[in-house]
Amino acid sequence: MKTIAIMNQKGGIGKTMTAASIAYLLGEEQGKKVLLVDADQQGNVSMLYDRYKPEGIGMSELLERHRSVGGSYKTTDLIQTTPYHNIDIITANGYLMRTNMNLLLNEKEDQILRFAAAMLEVQDVYDYCVVDCGLLLDMTVTNVLVATDLVILPVKIGGFEIEAIANMDEQLEDLRSLNNRIRMKILMTMRQKNQTSLQVEAWLKESSGQDCFVTAVRRSIIAEKATMQRVPLPKFSKNCIVTQDYRNVVTELLKDMEG
Ligand SMILES: Nc1ncnc2c1ncn2[C@@H]1O[C@H](COP(=O)(O)OP(=O)(O)OP(=O)(O)O)[C@@H](O)[C@H]1O
Ligand SMILES: [Mg+2]
Repeated sequence: MKTIAIMNQKGGIGKTMTAASIAYLLGEEQGKKVLLVDADQQGNVSMLYDRYKPEGIGMSELLERHRSVGGSYKTTDLIQTTPYHNIDIITANGYLMRTNMNLLLNEKEDQILRFAAAMLEVQDVYDYCVVDCGLLLDMTVTNVLVATDLVILPVKIGGFEIEAIANMDEQLEDLRSLNNRIRMKILMTMRQKNQTSLQVEAWLKESSGQDCFVTAVRRSIIAEKATMQRVPLPKFSKNCIVTQDYRNVVTELLKDMEG
């Protein structure tokens, strides 16, 4: 199982859209076994996959009450099926905020190794684990990064994206003593064709020194409609431009991960 974490400390830039779409296309179109993980207390990707429950069990229990830390849950107890082929999910909800606090206050040495330990149990069951991260580099996201092969950093042109990229680079550097295989790849999202966008895009691809997806995901109102309907975009619209772009992203991803 390869783990792909979608993260950026900026809000509303398409993290959840990217995680939900990639997971869907890998599972439904590419026939890969996918474990989708919600690592955001907002529970947005759980909602898109119709599994959100304010009181439900999932990520909080995985981090706090897994049997690897003396609790009673196995990883498989916390995995649910979704309405889609080959895609299972570990959900999140508001309790994750409390989990973050509990882990932060916990003096035990394993507090950032818990996700990695729990994932060992399903290592051979899934081809890909796709994680939708929250905004902060909190204890949940740190746990995820320890077990991550590839960080996809969605970038929306028009703000402080260069700072966000540098920031993320530094944080991954700090994690290298625990996970030396982690790498980062930038994905442009909500791309509009104006001069500024094209300039920043050219800089990112040619001069930034960062690994970058060739495909940039375009902006379309259809994406927002899919979010409002609470369904993964490729299910909502199989052939809209944004789904087409994500399909190309998945092709690039498979080439990158599987050669
Ligand atoms: N390519 C796109 N074109 C148009 N709208 C998009 C696109 N991608 C995402 N959106 C919309 O932008 C909004 C934010 O997207 P999303 O929820 O994926 O961002 P996020 O980074 O996960 O946000 P948060 O930081 O709150 O977790 C949503 O309404 C979504 O439908
Ligand atoms: Mg989100």
